[in-house]
Amino acid sequence: MRCSRTLQQIGLGDGVQRAQTCLTPHASCHTGRVSAQTIVILDFGSQYTQLIARRIREFNVFSVVLPCTAPLDEIRALAPIGLILSGGPSSVYDADAPPADPALLSFGVPILGICYGLQFIVHHLGGRVASASRREYGHAEVSILDPAAPLFAGVPTAIEAWMSHGDEAQQLPEGFRLIAQTSNALAGIANDERRIWAVQFHPEVHHTPLGSQILRNFVVGLCAAQADWTPTRFIESTVASIREKVGSGHVLCALSGGVDSSVAAVLVHRAIGSQLTCVFVNNGVLRKNEFEQVTRNLREKLGLNLVPIDASERFLDQLSGVTDPETKRKIIGREFITVFEAEAERIAAQAGRIDWLVQGTLYPDVIESSSVRGPSQTIKSHHNVGGLPERMKMKLIEPLRDLFKDEVRRIGRDLGMPEEILGRQPFPGPGLAVRIVGEVTPERVAILQNADEIVVGEIKAAGLYSQIWQSFAVLLPVRSVGVMGDQRTYAYTCAIRAVHSEDGMTADWTPLPHELLKRISNRIVNEVRGINRVVYDITSKPPGTIEWE
Ligand code: XMP
Repeated sequence: MRCSRTLQQIGLGDGVQRAQTCLTPHASCHTGRVSAQTIVILDFGSQYTQLIARRIREFNVFSVVLPCTAPLDEIRALAPIGLILSGGPSSVYDADAPPADPALLSFGVPILGICYGLQFIVHHLGGRVASASRREYGHAEVSILDPAAPLFAGVPTAIEAWMSHGDEAQQLPEGFRLIAQTSNALAGIANDERRIWAVQFHPEVHHTPLGSQILRNFVVGLCAAQADWTPTRFIESTVASIREKVGSGHVLCALSGGVDSSVAAVLVHRAIGSQLTCVFVNNGVLRKNEFEQVTRNLREKLGLNLVPIDASERFLDQLSGVTDPETKRKIIGREFITVFEAEAERIAAQAGRIDWLVQGTLYPDVIESSSVRGPSQTIKSHHNVGGLPERMKMKLIEPLRDLFKDEVRRIGRDLGMPEEILGRQPFPGPGLAVRIVGEVTPERVAILQNADEIVVGEIKAAGLYSQIWQSFAVLLPVRSVGVMGDQRTYAYTCAIRAVHSEDGMTADWTPLPHELLKRISNRIVNEVRGINRVVYDITSKPPGTIEWE
């Protein structure tokens, strides 16, 4: 998620021309968009807003998130077939409540309000919202008062729902009727004539088990969406629009071997073939054999025109003696740009010139950078290639900027990419450098590569790899005394980290089976010279982070 912040931090300014290729007729996204029925979600600052967008995409309907303050003209340019007003942390009476335009409510398409969205509707259409005498947080039983209401089609008369509100609607605006309630408060309202519906609970979270059905009723039923936004359609239209945009130009891609940059490269390759050159840099802190494996995979299995550059010595030289996490990150980012730029110049000399740069930016980064919650604090400077297009005067192709991670995988499958690439867990740009606490030396990189290979290998053998967001080893600078045979050892400690997460923003540590942990620990201590102790990291995010640095 934080990649977008880094884009700005390292200088991707508004001056950079973007060549978005996606399916919406978005006014501000001037290029290459192919019309698709769109649901617009207006974000009032809820932590669940992205989830609404994801749920709707699961119905094969395209959805976009805009700040609730987006000008009406911008919304109109998307020709939405429905609007959803999200939840949010404010009270409608707060002086700093988001200043959304109440004219939204006369937009002329079906509207669904969720939580704060309901209160916004009630407040601006003449009803009354007040602080609840009994606030509702967590599970609630909701009674459906009007089972014939189209919003509740196929839903029983009592459902479990997730609530999170301190204010409540106490008097409905004229023309509205109550369609659901809890024992405590109003839970659903409707105005069929104005085509406005609203629920106080959160249908988008999985704690509301029938929430998806309710959202589907709104999107497919009330908004009459055709549910035709499929991977195949996305690929066809994206390929066509890249082809049209690029013409006979030359395109460069900085490949990391991860899912996003690989899928982006394959999409562009499908559009323009040999006009695309991919550069893959070995920064010396990749996983064991990764440089060779990724090169083989992308060249042989996917036919990409790939230039592998082994710059490991240069990176490791620069990292020598450095222990501060942020300094490590900055060095790796800086060196990457230097190496990539030099290679790009060489390629440009051969190709004539390079006009475009492919980036695997995903939708969460795009939403995050325009969130009504404002920019979040930088915890770590993420490494990516965001500074390149401006320095090198290249235009950007971001074919995935409307997609969530799981959608990127679906697209990759449709493109015929191997699971070996699509199923990979995320790996940070600064690689093992942020998993080696303390100094990064060639010896310590080799130690961690060997331990990491065992962790990942055993987790794969146990059939758990694809169910876990990330699982890896971390090398600590702590040395402790052990005994092997009858010999004293004094060696490093290795931590095992395995986490579940939806998007990397929050994470829970994964309770790996004890037998598996035992096998991993045994193998590391026996097979990896330099490690004599293994510990298990049981910290969630927050307050921890996923990577140790
Ligand atoms: P943290 O450690 O901040 O990581 O909890 C959240 C997610 O981001 C990944 N990560 C990075 N990804 N460049 C990236 O592209 C980076 O510099 C970077 N640092 C962390 C991390 O692996 C996790 O998935």
